[in-house]
Amino acid sequence: MDYFNYRNDELFAEDVPVEQIVKQYGTPCYVYSRATLERHWRAFDSAFGAHPHLICYAVKANSNIALLNLLARLGSGFDIVSLGELERVIAASGAPDKIVFSGVGKREDEIIAALKIGIRCFNIEVGGELDRINRLAGQLGVIAPVSFRVNPDVDANTHPYISTGLKENKFGIAFEQALSEYQRAARMPNIKIIGIDCHIGSQLTETRPFLDALERILALVADLKAAGIVLHHLDLGGGLGIRYKDEQPPEPADYIRAVLDRLGEADFEILLEPGRAIVGNAGILVTRVEYLKATDHKNFAIVDAAMNDLVRPSLYSAWQNIIPVRMQNQAAEQTWDIVGPVCETGDFLGKGRTLRLNANDLLAVRSSGAYGFSMSSNYNSRPRAAEVLVDGGDTHLIRARESIEQLWAGERLLP
Ligand code: LLP
Repeated sequence: MDYFNYRNDELFAEDVPVEQIVKQYGTPCYVYSRATLERHWRAFDSAFGAHPHLICYAVKANSNIALLNLLARLGSGFDIVSLGELERVIAASGAPDKIVFSGVGKREDEIIAALKIGIRCFNIEVGGELDRINRLAGQLGVIAPVSFRVNPDVDANTHPYISTGLKENKFGIAFEQALSEYQRAARMPNIKIIGIDCHIGSQLTETRPFLDALERILALVADLKAAGIVLHHLDLGGGLGIRYKDEQPPEPADYIRAVLDRLGEADFEILLEPGRAIVGNAGILVTRVEYLKATDHKNFAIVDAAMNDLVRPSLYSAWQNIIPVRMQNQAAEQTWDIVGPVCETGDFLGKGRTLRLNANDLLAVRSSGAYGFSMSSNYNSRPRAAEVLVDGGDTHLIRARESIEQLWAGERLLP
C-alpha cells in the first residue's frame, strides 16, 4: 500500500497534487511519500514483536539523507557498503552502533573509518578482509565486531543480475570454507565474532528461498556451536520483493513469521537488511512529455526523464508502471514506447504502454523509490533530477536539481 492515489482523476502524493509539485520544482523529479516510507519500515519492525531484532535499511536503495534521517528517527539500523554510505548515515544522525558494513571490496580507509566510528558489525565477504580488519583494529587498539557473509548456494529465483546467493556469484564466503574461516577468526586477537549473515538476492517474490537459506545457516550455526563458537545474531540480508506489476510477494509479516516459526526457542537477535521493500513504492519519478512521434512501426512518447535518471528498465528490462498525472484526456488511446532524450536505443522507461497522451502531459513512473535516484548518473551531461518529499500536505525539497555548472565542478583545464 502506498499514498500515491487519484482524487478526481488527478494524481496526488499524500495530500498534495503532483501537478503542484511540478509547478514548484519542475521535471524530471522524484517524489517520495513519508507516510509510505514509515509504514513499510514499521511493517518489518512490528512483525518481530518482542523477539530481539534490528531492521538495517539497505542504504544503497535510496541514500538521500532526509530519508535516512526519517528512518533513524524511527530507530532504524543501516546496512552500508561504502565510506560514502557510512558518512551519509552519520550525516543523517544514524546511530553508529546500528550500522552493519557489507560489501565484497572494503578498502583500508573504509575499514579504518568504520572502526573509528564504532559500527555494530563488519559483514566479511572474503578471507583477506578478515586479516585486514584484524590488523587495522590492532593498529587502532580496538576490537572489531564481525560476522561472515556466507554464500548458502540457494537459487533466489530472481533476475540473474540481482541474484547473489549462488556458488557462481562473487558474494560471500563459500559455505564449505565458513567453519575454518570462523575458527581462524576465533584465534585472532582483535576480532570478536558476533554473528553470521547471508543475502541471496533481490526482488524475491516467495518465502521459500529465504527459508532454504536459513536452513543452511542454522546447520552451520550448529557446527560452529560444536566447535565452541557461539553467535549472538543472524542477519538474513534484504531481498524481499515488491509489486511492480502483478507480482505477489509475501508481506513482511508473513516472511518474518515464517522465520520466527522456524527459529522456535532459539533466541538469536535477527537482523534484516531490506531496501526495496521499504522505499520502492514510496517514490515516483515524474516526467513531462516533450514530443509525440508516430511512425509506421511505433509510437514514441519522448519524455524529459531518461536512463540516466532511472536505469532499471534499460539495465534489467524492469517493468515499472507508467501512469498519467491527470487522467481525463481527450486524446485517443494508443500504444506508446516511453523513451528519454539520451542517445542510446536502450534509453526507455517503458515499452508498449497503452495511454492517452498529448505533448506536455505529465507522467509518473511508479515504484521508483528504490534503485532510482541512487543509480542515476550524469550521462549525456544531464543534471540529476530534483528530489521532493511529501509529508501530508507539506512538500520539502530534499535534493535540489543539479545545476549545469555542477556537472564539471571538479574538472580542470590544463595550464
Ligand atoms: N543487503 C545486501 C548485502 C545487498 O547486497 C542488498 C542489495 C540488500 C541488502 C538490499 O536488497 P533489497 O532489500 O533492496 O532487495 N539495482 C537492483 C537491485 C540490486 C540489489 C543489490 N543488493 C535493482 O534495481 O533491482
